[in-house]
Amino acid sequence: MAVIDTQGWTRLIRNAAVATCTDGRPYGLIPKGAIALAGSRIAWVGARKELPAELPKNVAHTDARGALVTPGLIDCHTHLIWAGSRYREFEQRLQGASYEDIARAGGGIASTVTATRAASEGDLLTLAMGRAAKLVAEGVTAIEIKSGYGLDRDNELKMLRVARTLGKRLSLTVRTTLLAAHTVPPEFKDRSDDYINCVCDEILPAAAAEGLADAVDAYCDNIGFTTAQVERVFMRAQELGLAVKLHAEQFSNQQGAALAAKFKALSADHLEHLDKDGVQAMATARTVAVLLPGAYSYLRETKLPPIELLRVHRVPIAIASDLNPGSAPLASLMLNMHLACTQFGLTTEEALLGVTRHAARALGLRKERGTIEPGKVADLVIWNAEHPAELAAQFGLVRPAAVLRNGAA
Ligand code: NIG
Ligand code: FE
Repeated sequence: MAVIDTQGWTRLIRNAAVATCTDGRPYGLIPKGAIALAGSRIAWVGARKELPAELPKNVAHTDARGALVTPGLIDCHTHLIWAGSRYREFEQRLQGASYEDIARAGGGIASTVTATRAASEGDLLTLAMGRAAKLVAEGVTAIEIKSGYGLDRDNELKMLRVARTLGKRLSLTVRTTLLAAHTVPPEFKDRSDDYINCVCDEILPAAAAEGLADAVDAYCDNIGFTTAQVERVFMRAQELGLAVKLHAEQFSNQQGAALAAKFKALSADHLEHLDKDGVQAMATARTVAVLLPGAYSYLRETKLPPIELLRVHRVPIAIASDLNPGSAPLASLMLNMHLACTQFGLTTEEALLGVTRHAARALGLRKERGTIEPGKVADLVIWNAEHPAELAAQFGLVRPAAVLRNGAA
């Protein structure tokens, strides 16, 4: 047996069922496991019986009492900064209107843009912190936050600043995504190409210059932007050294996922209408498929994403909340894990990997987070559960007993 170097260890979590989320066995599960930390990083993980008898004197001990430990959960697709409410649209849809009907009638995203533009940075921060706190209470330690309800330079930057501040206030890892190409704002009505010029020439460079965007997203659909327009946005993002991702194939097949793959996108998201060519392109580019079962359920969609094709082609599948006021005002990543299983037919293991390892990849964080492995950041959740299947199999019952962020409680 290899000698374990215990030098530098600061904490040992013992007596844990460790779901490492690495390869080799289901959930990467070590049933009687232990995790050693060195400051904010994971130093060692393995079976309890492999632990050396002698440990440095100053190591702090945490007895997990047989509880499940997973990586901190990662919500890799949210729009959680907004003002206003769209409850009327929910009522309209229950009476038969579609998401597209409402958008074309000037409601939808555009109505949230009006309310968000009118809100101050402080008000948006308060609203967004309340939503993010719900995710944090579920053991979420990293989230992505998109802009996309500002749609002009100042308001898009306002949203991104709120996202950065939120991360600091909640000691949460936040990756920001500029989604200026979300819809055409009213001042550019019937001039979508002119708006794309504004996105490329004004909004994107300003966000990059201020270091406010970690990635760039766009909404490619009949009621969004064409692939030709998205391509222009992606080219500009690439020039500025920013990673890209795409809302693709949500309500129709525009071949958006293939375009995203061509630009080596971190992820293509939604994907209910994705076809085989799109799956193959994503597989080749190692672009993550981010599935959003909460939005699918909330909009009462019926076309399922091509799960089996994604599996066959070994496309990494992530699950996210899509938390937003229109298609998913559902502030729970764990609900999405559950819906991923019941609505999309994922296994409980796929659901867990979807909010850890593959979600980390979708945010460009795969070297730092998403699994319990030596060298990675010690973002860990100790659950009031014993088996990883419990996280998706029940809803609202399984909660974190303790959360470590950067190795600290
Ligand atoms: O991911 N469909 C585009 N964007 C969001 C919805 C945003 C909204 O309706 O406000 C989505 O579902
Ligand atoms: Fe979205």
